[in-house]
Amino acid sequence: MIDPKVEKVLIEQMAKESASSALYLSMHSWLEMKGLEGCATFMFAQAEEERTHMLKLMKYINDSGGHAIIQGVKQPKAQFKNVKEIFELVLESEKDISRSIHQLVDVCTKLKDYTTLHFLQWYVAEQHEEEKLARTILDKLEIIGLEGNGLYLFDKEIAGIQVQTEMKAQDAGGAGA
Ligand code: FEO
Repeated sequence: MIDPKVEKVLIEQMAKESASSALYLSMHSWLEMKGLEGCATFMFAQAEEERTHMLKLMKYINDSGGHAIIQGVKQPKAQFKNVKEIFELVLESEKDISRSIHQLVDVCTKLKDYTTLHFLQWYVAEQHEEEKLARTILDKLEIIGLEGNGLYLFDKEIAGIQVQTEMKAQDAGGAGA
């Protein structure tokens, strides 16, 4: 049976993953409206991934004798200056989620909840990958720039990253969840 304190923080984490999914979907919509198909497709996949992170927490809580309460999500930011702002916000969001996961690890360590600690290891590794990806994208943007054909080339580059990520997920036998 899951400790109520652990159940509470895991439910809070579900809400953060849902908020992250909503933010990324909002970014997708803005990018699609601007005709940036590569970036839009990438952000759609990221939104789906965040949803799977929320669902994975929900299943764990319910399978552990708890009740995963679904929280409402406030309206995410809808207007963005440019793609640089979007990917800077992605990195900030991923860093926030990483901090939150590390706090969960602290709670479970104090309560000696080794089962949940084991479950959370997947999230610790996933956050490392997601922060790395956001930094890589910002580095590419810095190199390519947004002048002239820069935005067009950057969009193509992000489409390429998306294809590689999908191939990796297929090789791993599933969709990144
Ligand atoms: Fe599920 Fe990227 O945090």
